[in-house]
Amino acid sequence: MKITKQAGPPKDLLYFDDEVNLTPLQIEDVVEIFNTPLTGSYNWDYTIADNRIKKLYELGKELNWNGSIDLQWDYTHPSDEKIIEPDEELPHETLEAYQNLTEEEKILFDRHSTAELMSQFLHGEQGALLVASQLASCAPTYNAKLYAASQTFDEARHVEVFNRYLQEKIGIHYPINPALKTLLDKILTDERWDLKFIGMQIIIEGLALAAFQMLKSITKDPLLKQLLHYVVRDEARHVTFGINYLEDFIKTLSPEEIEDRAEFAYEACVISRERLINTKSEQRFLGMSEEEAREFQLNTKTFDMFRNFLFSRVIPNLSRIGLLTDSVRPKFEALGLLEYEHAPDDFECDWTELKKPLETFDKIPEAI
Ligand SMILES: [Fe+2]
Ligand SMILES: [Fe+2]
Repeated sequence: MKITKQAGPPKDLLYFDDEVNLTPLQIEDVVEIFNTPLTGSYNWDYTIADNRIKKLYELGKELNWNGSIDLQWDYTHPSDEKIIEPDEELPHETLEAYQNLTEEEKILFDRHSTAELMSQFLHGEQGALLVASQLASCAPTYNAKLYAASQTFDEARHVEVFNRYLQEKIGIHYPINPALKTLLDKILTDERWDLKFIGMQIIIEGLALAAFQMLKSITKDPLLKQLLHYVVRDEARHVTFGINYLEDFIKTLSPEEIEDRAEFAYEACVISRERLINTKSEQRFLGMSEEEAREFQLNTKTFDMFRNFLFSRVIPNLSRIGLLTDSVRPKFEALGLLEYEHAPDDFECDWTELKKPLETFDKIPEAI
């Protein structure tokens, strides 16, 4: 085992060649250190309130799938077919630079842009794993500690399956988007447990849930559909847990403390919008500079609608837990996100849906 410390995340793409068969001695773990002033708590009151949190914890145990057995890994999407292919034309497909690509180059572009998007999922899942494990120590109540521990295992499984799909089925990792890294750094190194909770369970997970559902609906790869479906089922439980827990907790804070959290949530949303702009594969294949690719994404209506749509769960959930305060509402309005204020939140959940046994490879429904 060799552990190498470096100052930040990798900046370049990593390729995985299946010819390479490394022995444990040849594997080098590259790490980046962060420090956190974590305030932990023991909880000496082991009585468990028979509430939704307990039900969600029980359900998590019941629906513990196995990333190596339950997914149909022997399926590999045909190498001459795209992984992402929605019914409507994608914005870049209208560009001359794209139309001039050969069929093979178009497939390669599809693999790279899928890898770029899914690498952000992978890095985000690693962040969720680290935050959930911190929450097991620092969440104050007994049932929240148990839930955070079970979520930690869920997140480990998500890291495992996204990584395996990227390595085995595409063979490329893209580096983390700098805005996502900034947000994870902030959440992981803040000492206030409830900020970690708000940042992770409401914002990162809420966005991820919408993004996973979106990818699930436009991928033609049935293995990826199955993988995303299983992950989405877990994430839906995590988000519901976050809202149920935070709604009660935030009521116990002073108005200043609430304002502090509301401002944090707003800033996290601003950074999150930035992290949805991933341009590396466009630069690589469509001959665009970083600035041009950014402009293209910012000025294309479909991308804009997509970015806003991803907040359709975050905003009503922030409203539900009391963080859409009068001082932050105009700021959200300026971002064009307030239209989701009255959309359904995730406080109530459909228990029959959440409890359904896991669907098999050939029976993955379109909806959750
Ligand atoms: Fe996750
Ligand atoms: Fe999660």
